[in-house]
This record gives sequence, C-alpha cells and structure tokens, in this order.
Amino acid sequence: MAGVACAVLVWRLSGSKPAPAEFYAYSASGRSLPNLWVAPPFSYVDQQGTVVTNATLRGRPWIADFIFTECTSACPMMTSRMVLIQHALAGLDVQFVSFSVDPRHDTPSVLATYARTWNRAETRWTLLSTDARRLPDTLAGFRVTAERTKDPTNPIVHSSVFLLVDPDGRVRGVYDSSDDAARSRLGTDARRLADQEALHAGQEAEADDLYASLGCTGCHANPQVAPLLDDLSGAQVKLQDGTTVTADDAYLRRSIVDPAAQLVAGYSPLMPSYAAELSETQLAELVREVDARRSASAAPGSPDEPARLVTDPVCHMTVRVGPDTPLATDHGREVYFCSDRCRDSFVANPFKFTKSAVSPP
Ligand code: HEC
Repeated sequence: MAGVACAVLVWRLSGSKPAPAEFYAYSASGRSLPNLWVAPPFSYVDQQGTVVTNATLRGRPWIADFIFTECTSACPMMTSRMVLIQHALAGLDVQFVSFSVDPRHDTPSVLATYARTWNRAETRWTLLSTDARRLPDTLAGFRVTAERTKDPTNPIVHSSVFLLVDPDGRVRGVYDSSDDAARSRLGTDARRLADQEALHAGQEAEADDLYASLGCTGCHANPQVAPLLDDLSGAQVKLQDGTTVTADDAYLRRSIVDPAAQLVAGYSPLMPSYAAELSETQLAELVREVDARRSASAAPGSPDEPARLVTDPVCHMTVRVGPDTPLATDHGREVYFCSDRCRDSFVANPFKFTKSAVSPP
C-alpha cells in the first residue's frame, strides 16, 4: 500500500503451514473456520494496570493486533480499522487486544492515553504494555514479527495483520488489516464465534459524538499524520494533484466516504472509507460535527485575535491556546500542553518529545 512505510506485512512461513492467502480463503468460505494454531501463553499489564494473560481472555473470542503508539503511518492505518471493527461488533461479547511492540516507550499510561484518543468509549479494548525480554516469544507464538530499524521516522517494522482467536485460545483466522474485504470477513467470522446478535444498536446510540467514537481524532489530532480539521470548513484545500478545492459540505462528505479520491497535498492515503459503516443520517451528522469544530474555534472571545491551535507534543491532542493554557519554553520557543501533567512530562524530558513537537512560530 502506497504511503505506508513503517510496517510491512511480514509473515513467517513455516514449512507445513498454509500461506496467508489460503487462510483468507478458509475464512471466506461458508464452512467452519479452520483451527490454525494455539495462541501462545503471555502475561502483560494493560492500560489500566491490570495483568492480562491468555488465560484471562478465555471464554470469549478476541481480535489481536500489534502496534506502537509513536508510529505515524501503519499503526494509525491499523488502529482506525480496529476501531471500525469495534463499531461493527458493537454490543457483542468480543475482546480487542493490541500488543505494543515498543516496550520501552508504551507504558500502561501511554497506552491509556492512546486508547482515549482513538475510542474513549470502548470498554472491550485491552492494550498491553509488553516487556522486551518476553516479547520475542509472544511474537513468535503469534507468527508475527517486529524489528527495530535505524530509521528514526520508522523505528519499528512490524506485521500488520489482525488475528482472530476463539474462546478456547486457538487462532482461527489471519486478516490483512489494509484490505477492506478481509476486515469485513473478520467481522463476520468474529460474529460467528461470538454466536450472538448485537445487543443494541451501539452506533446509533453514540450518534451525538461520532467524531470521537469513530477514532477520527486518532489521526486528525496529530498534524504529522493527518490535517487538523478545526479550521477546515469553507477553507481552500490544496490537493495532491495540484488542484485546489473549497471545503464545503459536499467535499467533507466525499472525504469521509471516499478519502482516496481527493488526497490532501502532503499526506498519505491512510484514511479508511467510512461509507460502509455509516448510515445516511450518521454521515450527515458527522459532516455537521466537522463543521461545528470550525464554529467552535472560529468564534473565540476576541474577534481580532483568531484562535491559535497547536498540538500538545506529549499526547498529540489539539490545544486551543488561551491565557490559561499550560506552557513551557524549549530552546526559546513556546510549547503548549493540554494539561499540567503533559507539561510536567515534557519538562522532565523535553528531548523525548521535541521530535514531534509542533510549535507556533
Ligand atoms: C488512519 C488515519 C485517519 C483516520 C482514522 C481518519 N482520517 Fe481523515 N484523513 C487522514 C489523512 C491522512 C487525510 C489526508 C489525506 C486524504 O485526503 O485522504 C485525511 C483527510 C480528511 C479530510 C479532508 C481534510 C482536508 O484538509 O481537506 C476530512 C474531512 C477527514 N479526513 C475527515 C475524517 C473523519 C470525519 C474521520 C473519522 C470518521 C477521519 N477523517 C478519520 C487520516 C485519517
């Protein structure tokens, strides 16, 4: 997939095992899902500080992936799809398990922030803080890979598959996360394992906050990954093909259902299409929400001083600068934060965050 540099689909083929394409074929067939192999034992701490093991996950199907929070290309692509699956399986007794492949950086509290940014309402999502000593065995047991590189913008290259594990801990399917058809098969297969209909229409219930619950902020709060949307409505947008368009409602709508059709200049095609996930009413609501983000920032207290939006370099949230915004100076530049907590983390170790800092001029 063009533009996704930080991860490649790596698959360890061991002699007698069928190739991934065959797994997909199995999963696609109407027959029962194949028993691929037994998921390995593991024991890690989740984003709430609770120990999670393969044994505690028994009793319900779960979907696993392997990510790290500082990744700005493949992981936003994968996590946005993870959130879409969470939506598609709203109300089902299915667990979602994201293993961090960056034990050095991804502590439980970093993972908690990540989960909040992407889908703060999701209670079935477990993000595991791994440790460097045991991670290689876990990866081998899931037949995925993660390797450090010397490239600071792509520090870890890792597998980008989703795995479906049944209530008895057996892997029943492997799915290419960048393939929409594979993702919808995963939804069908997981539903079949959960053997239960959705208990409620979760998506409609969240209709008043689609923007947050669909994980839009996961990418759009970090200008390194996706354009900030706050001042978008009505603005002129420069596209990859050199043309310029006005961001009216029709453009916003197209951007959401067919994002690849009009790529914004300077960005990669990471965004999934939300066409299949949204009803017409929800789509209209989402366009209104993107519009409203503009009204919020375009109507600050003093009209002659436009709102200044910056990105908190610690948690990557968008921050509107006001008189009370937590602030630090770094090499003479002002850096703003969403909270004192983020400022304190920054001040304690500025070097760690300055790589991705977005500072006002
Ligand atoms: C995986 C990361 C990702 C997620 C999740 C994501 N987007 Fe995007 N989005 C992008 C990127 C990258 C671009 C710029 C490239 C392009 O045009 O596709 C973009 C472009 C856009 C644009 C056009 C922006 C402009 O400046 O013209 C809109 C509108 C938009 N997204 C809305 C949304 C909404 C609403 C959601 C949630 C339903 C969402 N996006 C989720 C990555 C993402």
